[in-house]
Amino acid sequence: MVDLGGQYSQLIARRVRECRVYSELVPHTVTPEQVRARNPHALILSGGPASVYAEGAPRVDPALFSLGVPTLGICYGMQLMAQELGGRVDRTGVSEFGKTELRAKESLLFHDLPSEQTVWMSHRDSVVAPPEGAAVIAGSPSTPIAAFEQLETSVYGVQFHPEVVHTPFGMELLKNFLYNVAGAPPAWTPAAVIEEQVERIRAQVGRERVICGLSGGVDSAVAALLVHKAVGDQLTCVFVDHGLLRKNEAEQVVETFGGHFHVPLVHVQAQKRFLSRLAGVSDPEEKRKIVGEEFIRVFEEEAGGLGDARFLVQGTLYSDVIESGGTDNAETIKSHHNVGGLPADMKMELVEPLRMLFKDEVRRVGEELGLPERMVWRQPFPGPGLAIRIIGDVTEERLEILREADAILQEEVRRSGLYRELWQSFCVLPAIRSVGVQGDSRTYGYPVVIRAVTSEDAMTADWARLPYDVIESVASRVVNEIPAVNRVVLDVTSKPPATIEWE
Ligand code: XMP
Repeated sequence: MVDLGGQYSQLIARRVRECRVYSELVPHTVTPEQVRARNPHALILSGGPASVYAEGAPRVDPALFSLGVPTLGICYGMQLMAQELGGRVDRTGVSEFGKTELRAKESLLFHDLPSEQTVWMSHRDSVVAPPEGAAVIAGSPSTPIAAFEQLETSVYGVQFHPEVVHTPFGMELLKNFLYNVAGAPPAWTPAAVIEEQVERIRAQVGRERVICGLSGGVDSAVAALLVHKAVGDQLTCVFVDHGLLRKNEAEQVVETFGGHFHVPLVHVQAQKRFLSRLAGVSDPEEKRKIVGEEFIRVFEEEAGGLGDARFLVQGTLYSDVIESGGTDNAETIKSHHNVGGLPADMKMELVEPLRMLFKDEVRRVGEELGLPERMVWRQPFPGPGLAIRIIGDVTEERLEILREADAILQEEVRRSGLYRELWQSFCVLPAIRSVGVQGDSRTYGYPVVIRAVTSEDAMTADWARLPYDVIESVASRVVNEIPAVNRVVLDVTSKPPATIEWE
């Protein structure tokens, strides 16, 4: 997947993977030698925001087209190919944005697809002459050349976006290209990923010892299981229990890893240490700093006690790799959200078995490895945990109240079948009191806030329209089952202007 700056580049790579063909994103500056070294079945050129005639418009080395690798250009990628291969691109004055009716001819690309179908277009420029020797295989009312094929060289172009859901037969078209044109077998399955990673880890680690920090989240869990599968008891997992997790979460980690998978596990009971450092602290950033620092300290102490480990497992994902510029080598231990940043002076080499996976792929690998559903589908949870969901000082009593309220919310949300649809759902405990009445007596108790949001990436979020009966069950159970709480409120703000967390 050659990235020409389009907003759908990552999506194309993911769609190809959904067709069970492994796909990697490379910058458009990739050299023919680099491509040859990777020996790909196919190349796909993504869309991009530029006009091929614009100054500084992203280009590729034209020698890429002489490698004999089947190539598909999408939108801008198609136009770039047309321009480089003897065709022509023009601003025809007709732009297309949105759903368009397409008429296609029988061809490898459209094989077994309806001759008339809806596709998603988003372009100003159009190809007005296809590459030399290429045949036009599809057109729309305002774009007569909406797809071309050059059979001898296996070069294809489509003006529309097969990767988006608004192109209903898009996946079928991609499959036609991958399987029939490029001869790429649909062999990239979770089982294949596991096999490949296990081999890689063995080659990297040899007979050395490895440490992995568990957070309770899916990434570190899957990374740990892959490493354990590869090198067995050479791996020791360290689980720092800071006492800021949800109800039963720590037990689940211990039971799953120590009990079920028999992974050597050091369960560090550091609840008291964290709590005493947090005593009297109500500033959110101060809380984060304390939890982060203390985490590193505890982890270092434990890792130090394990002596001779040369490798450290980190659950870096492909999206992190792309974001940080897509380098092939991790040089330093990067500050990791969930473990609060590990010390840079720990002279360990990183093992990153999730480096090539997107989040949903990590989940599928987790399922294949037998990780319990609860861990595989766990919603994101912040590193500082419940400390930033108690507004005010963090005390054992407040943690206990919040844990109970949150457990009720989780239970009801799961029961309603909405858990996976929500980006996050949790309770917040503002440490204030309000007046209530229960039985014949006046109460003076804490309120609990229900916060549930939908989101794609946490950058923006919408407050979730939980059904009234779910809200009702949570509210009545919370006040009935937790004596210290006499009021439940619902947060109905989106992000922006609010944030997802309250601190
Ligand atoms: P906000 O509240 O900024 O949160 O809308 C966006 C996402 O980030 C998570 N979050 C954190 N995660 N350490 C973490 O590991 C943190 O300090 C932290 N603060 C917020 C939050 O849960 C949401 O998914």
